[in-house]
Amino acid sequence: MTANLSPLPPLPSGFEAKGPDLLFAGKTVAAWAAQYGTPLYLYDTARLKRKYEALRAAMPKELYLSYAIKANPHTEVIRFLGKHYDGVDLASMGEMAKAMEAGVEPARMSFAGPGKSPAELEFAVKNGIGAISVESQRELELIIGIAQRLNTKARVYFRVNPAFELGSSGLKMGGGSKQFGIDAELIPDLVKGLKGNPLVTFHGLHFFTGVQNLNADAILSAFEKILAYAADLVESADASMEVLNLGGGFGIPHHRGDGELDLAKVGEGMGKLFDAIRPRLPKTRFKIELGRFVVGECGLYISKILYRKMSRGGVFLVMDGGLHQYLAASGHMSGNPIHRPMNIAIASRMDAPLEKVNVVGTLCTPLDRFGFNLELPRAEEGDLIAVLNAGAYGFSMSPLTFLSHALPKEVVL
Ligand SMILES: Cc1ncc(COP(=O)(O)O)c(C=O)c1O
Repeated sequence: MTANLSPLPPLPSGFEAKGPDLLFAGKTVAAWAAQYGTPLYLYDTARLKRKYEALRAAMPKELYLSYAIKANPHTEVIRFLGKHYDGVDLASMGEMAKAMEAGVEPARMSFAGPGKSPAELEFAVKNGIGAISVESQRELELIIGIAQRLNTKARVYFRVNPAFELGSSGLKMGGGSKQFGIDAELIPDLVKGLKGNPLVTFHGLHFFTGVQNLNADAILSAFEKILAYAADLVESADASMEVLNLGGGFGIPHHRGDGELDLAKVGEGMGKLFDAIRPRLPKTRFKIELGRFVVGECGLYISKILYRKMSRGGVFLVMDGGLHQYLAASGHMSGNPIHRPMNIAIASRMDAPLEKVNVVGTLCTPLDRFGFNLELPRAEEGDLIAVLNAGAYGFSMSPLTFLSHALPKEVVL
């Protein structure tokens, strides 16, 4: 069973093992599990800081860096990131309230999403949000009505559904017929229509075309098209554009054997693109909004093996956690019909000989599996399974109440 297995791919960057133990934030994962119990999410702020510094150093200096809260809405995570990033991107009134609680000023917030309710729009306008990303003509009418009723100013930017898709990305969110944004060809008339409006002002454009992209060339090619579209719009609508939000979609090594995005290449490429377009967009500040790239690699999901079970020759490691706590690890979120296992480690047996195993959760559904036929060090009851790079779209994007299990702890270190 243990013979002839290929060596495991190296641990993703920032992780190391010592003897049988995986290390995280200066301790063994076993020590963290003993301290807080399992199942458990750990988020390491030192990693958040390192990631911020690497991003800031690689990106053009003038670039506005925004954190998309949806990736990890833990208040302490928002508080920490709010101090480093230029702003935050929101997807609901609840996120806005959390960001305010975490000390982020509304002027540094932008709010996107195809289904903002009238109450959410009013909350955002009343609280002086930096910008609302308008995703339909009807939404614009609602905002104008709210601004008039409250006699308050509101800044909008239009989320554009471009004519192109982002190559090499996980979920595609732009191009063709989509629920997100306003079709590119309709934008010039909307921009012109806002001219002279005393309360609602045109702030700029917002693009977000896809996520989890590890291909620098594909990202740069989308940015190039976005910049050209924005410059054409400014000229054709004779408008001034304060901000151009390019989106982002920067990916991280989620899956076993994934490479890393070449951040230096993206940064250098962006610098060149900005220099080239600057004469046509002299007053525009460029912005990106990133979620998983900011927080993904700061997190770990830890679950204990309750049972090592054999079924007709197959080994099943049954965890005390599962998809209800980390949906993405079960592959039911990727938009890809083929399940690609995440970076899973046996955190307390890093140096044991390999075997082929099935890693499954505690739920009574066959969907609850983190990986079938994985090659992992031989594990026993009580050993710890760790999903690496689990800081984004974990706790908050999982069906936590399914089967009424206790919630996993979240600890910010
Ligand atoms: C509008 C918008 N901004 C930002 C993000 C964050 O994406 P990611 O976490 O992949 O960086 C998303 C993700 O869906 C989004 O829809």
